[in-house]
Amino acid sequence: MKLFELTLPPWYSNAVVRHITFGILIGFTLSVTSTSISSYWRSRRRQSLSQEQNDLRPIELRSNEVVRGVTGLIGNTPLVRIDSLSNALGVEILGKAEFLNPGGSVKDRVALRIIEDAERQGLLHPHTGSRIFEGTVGSTGISIATIAKARGYDTTIIMPDDVAQEKVNALQALGADVQRVRPASIVDKKQYVNIARRAAIEFGRSDITKGLEDAHTSHELNTGSASVVVTTTSSHVNAEGTIDDPMDEDLLSKPRGFFADQFENRSNFEAHYDGTGPEIWRQTNSHVDGFVSGAGTGGTIAGIGQFFKSKNEEVQVVLADPEGSGLYNKVKHGVMYDRREAEGTKRRHQVDTVVEGIGINRMTNNIDLGIPIIDDVFRITDVEAVAMSRYLVHNDGLFLGSSSACNLVACVKFVKKMRWREGQTLVTILCDSGNRHYSKFWNDEYLRKANIPVDRSIIDDLIAKPDSGV
Ligand SMILES: Cc1ncc(COP(=O)(O)O)c(C=O)c1O
Ligand SMILES: *[C@@H]1O[C@H](CO)[C@@H](O)[C@H](O)[C@H]1NC(C)=O
Repeated sequence: MKLFELTLPPWYSNAVVRHITFGILIGFTLSVTSTSISSYWRSRRRQSLSQEQNDLRPIELRSNEVVRGVTGLIGNTPLVRIDSLSNALGVEILGKAEFLNPGGSVKDRVALRIIEDAERQGLLHPHTGSRIFEGTVGSTGISIATIAKARGYDTTIIMPDDVAQEKVNALQALGADVQRVRPASIVDKKQYVNIARRAAIEFGRSDITKGLEDAHTSHELNTGSASVVVTTTSSHVNAEGTIDDPMDEDLLSKPRGFFADQFENRSNFEAHYDGTGPEIWRQTNSHVDGFVSGAGTGGTIAGIGQFFKSKNEEVQVVLADPEGSGLYNKVKHGVMYDRREAEGTKRRHQVDTVVEGIGINRMTNNIDLGIPIIDDVFRITDVEAVAMSRYLVHNDGLFLGSSSACNLVACVKFVKKMRWREGQTLVTILCDSGNRHYSKFWNDEYLRKANIPVDRSIIDDLIAKPDSGV
């Protein structure tokens, strides 16, 4: 004991040894524990992250998330990144998945808005035997027929006799009265839009030809707008279309004919200005560099384009125009002029292409709203559109219709022309699914007869081309 005290320095007491040893021990333990705790949390985080990515999101039903009826399913469609094109171009190519609407296309929004606007103005009343008339190449008709049934109306659709048969099948399944007519120019009384308008005006008169004793003659209601056609079989309308008592029971309960008029009516534009446009703006966190769309009535490009410009004037609005359409020249040179028309080879069709739904050779109210804000336009060939549709199935499993394919070809051409490759965001519309196009656009045999090659490598070549080469 004494020895111990002598050999050790005075400061080296037992207590000190104990304290130091204890301190080292605690320090070591703490550092080991903290390292293992942090690595534990890191691996937990990794695990949960990868689980989030891999697990299917459960289908949740929260309160107030049950939608009402088929119209509740319209809109709020997802925005999908098209991986193949985005990765190849270095630009985010995003498609608004409108083919997921219950009626199968972007036109559900338009049909719903047209019908709701007419109801709001008291022009249409549900469950009164009223009938909605429209001239359309198909998609809008299917949307109107769907919503009409949900709302308590009947539908008559007039369409050219050369549109894909599956659209007719869908319309008939939806209980629509379908009348197919020979394609004709808009100046022709027998053009399908003109026939639809006339049919709405004559609504109710067919009773007379059927020889019914008490048949009413229909009256065109004065709506304050010359272009709006609403007829009624009620006798409480004067010859000039004016009404003595707007709340008269007979007037409100009698069947009416209503011409939807998607080409001219502003409800079409507004469905996109108030709906599709703001949805995309939200989905991209207000980050859109460009928007690409085709135009059939012009409602989509005008409505979404004008909404984007109102938020940010720098957003580039780009039109995808199929072969035979006059819009390309309208945007480039200010006149609607198609070489084929000049050569007298213009066919009976609205536009000469296997692409259905877009392209037009006349000005309409909705196109008028779009033309001033279109920054650029690309003419897309049938061959390119077909190639893109096959490319998207091959690389992304995306089975899309012809107008969507046109839009995406225009996306590639625009990105190349602008030399974009720094992750800019280019948005377009995936208007409908390939299942609306089995008989023509998705029919290789039909395409072969029409001398349209089916070759998705055309898209690889387009992507590989030097920038600005388009
Ligand atoms: C399948 C399809 N895509 C695109 C469009 C074009 O849309 P919009 O009429 O708004 O120009 C239409 C409309 O006719 C269509 O049917
Ligand atoms: C569109 O239709 C509504 C009826 O639904 C009508 O009140 C309005 O005037 C029409 N607008 C145009 C521009 O034709």
